[in-house]
Parts: sequence; structure tokens; C-alpha cells
Amino acid sequence: MQPQIRSLISDKLRQKISHANNVLVMTGAGVSAESGVPTFRGGGNTTVWKGLPFEVISSAGMLERDLPAVWEWFNYRRGLLAALKPNPAHEAIARWQKLFSDFTLVTQNIDGLHQAAGSRNVVELHGNIWRARCFDCGSRHDVRELKFDNSVPVCFDCGGNLRPDVVLFGEMLPAGAFETAAMKAQTCELCFVVGTSAVVYPAASIPEIARAAGAYLVEVNPEATPLSRLCDELLTGKAGEILPRLER
Ligand code: OAD
Repeated sequence: MQPQIRSLISDKLRQKISHANNVLVMTGAGVSAESGVPTFRGGGNTTVWKGLPFEVISSAGMLERDLPAVWEWFNYRRGLLAALKPNPAHEAIARWQKLFSDFTLVTQNIDGLHQAAGSRNVVELHGNIWRARCFDCGSRHDVRELKFDNSVPVCFDCGGNLRPDVVLFGEMLPAGAFETAAMKAQTCELCFVVGTSAVVYPAASIPEIARAAGAYLVEVNPEATPLSRLCDELLTGKAGEILPRLER
């Protein structure tokens, strides 16, 4: 296995890694797959909660109709995530923040595994399942500190109802997250896109912006995606096996 992966990594990429100062990594569900987090697409494993498809229970409409059900669903998901640990891909990415003078990690994942591996200043495009946000005053709280006595936790600051601090279907991205990611994409020299099907916008436009601005674009994924044709290099395989072998 190892020699085969090694042969996939070109000398050109090794040189780029050695010389780059400004690097951006964007991740999707696939980076957490080896930790045991199910991906959204490609596995034939459509998530359903109490007969409701993922895009219904995780939607802005459901938040309006049945906030307790949304909390129940997110509590269930957090319960599954609580036992999971970062894998070698998260750990490699966390080390990279020290290797490059300007390093940005952008993720679509809400699982918090990058932070658990030691990554800091992660640009979270879709929020974080371990945070709650107040409908009324907007303040954010660590879900692990909340009381769930009445199925919907309330804000410590103003007493308003809290919601999961994640982007639901039909909602905008959190203010500033996409803008920060896009700005960094415009200036990076090397951009890795890891474990995303690259079909959900605007997240999928981040690597497109990087490539258009002249970055060397590398995809790490066992499968081809719509982005593959734009990439300078495709590293076909599992992130947990490939990323640790890329370190300079
Ligand atoms: P997807 O489930 O769409 O895609 C996962 C990708 O990971 C696929 O391209 C797989 O081939 C790849 N993959 C699987 N195992 C891998 C491994 N071990 N190493 C590397 N890659 C692997 O997940 P996302 O692209 O993250 O949004 O989905 C984007 C968004 O769609 C999510 O953030 C979520 C969903 O709707 C919201 O919930 C707002």
C-alpha cells in the first residue's frame, strides 16, 4: 500500500510543499470518515431520523415547526460523535499550521474533530454541532454546559431559546465565514481539497477561487468529483493514509 501511495505524490507537489508559505486546506465529510463519521453522499447510506430525510429534519422549516425535534435530532447526532476521535488526517492537518507561515483551514464539517486534533482558528462554513446560538441575542454557548430540562435549552445571557449553531438547509452561511475563506483562497499558493464531493455551494467555490487566483490545486479523495478536472493533481485514496505522507 505505502509504495503505491508514495508514487502518487509528484516531485512537483513535494517541491511546492517545501517552498510554499501560504497554504489553504478545505475539508468535507470524507476527512472524518476514517473516524467513523458517516458521509452525506456516495456511500448509499441516506440518513433518516424518525422517518424524516436528513434535508427535512436539518432544515430551517423544521426549526420553525418543531424546535424540540431539531434538538432531539442534534442531541442524538452529538451522542454518536462523542465517542469518536480525530484520525491521522485531522492530526496531519493540525501539524501543518506550524509548518507554513500562513495556513488556513476551512471546513464544511460540524463535528469539531479538527479542533480536537489541535487545529486553531478553523473557518467553519457550516457551524459547529458543539455550539448553540440564541435566537434573541445571538450569543453562543458550549452545548456541553447547557441544561436540557425542557427539551429546548435557554440562553444564559437573556433567557431566549437556543438553537444548534449549525447551518441548516435553507439557511445562509454564518456572517464572515465565507468571506474569510474566499479572501484566503485568493492569496494561497497551494490549496488542498480533502474529502468533499464539492457539490454544495458556496463552499465548493473556495477551491475554484484559489485555482482561478493561481494556486496549485490538489484533491485528496478516493473518488473523482466535479472539481477534479480543475485540479493540478489528484491524490486518489483515503485522507488518513495520504495526508501524513505529504509532510515536508
Ligand atoms: P459528502 O458526503 O458530499 O462527500 C464526502 C466525500 O468524501 C466524497 O467525495 C467521498 O468520496 C469522500 N471520502 C469518503 N471517504 C474518504 C476518505 N477516507 N478520505 C477522503 N475522502 C473521502 O460530504 P461534503 O462534501 O462534506 O452541509 O458535503 C458538503 C455538505 O453537504 C455538508 O457540509 C453538509 C451536506 O449538506 C450541511 O449540512 C449544511
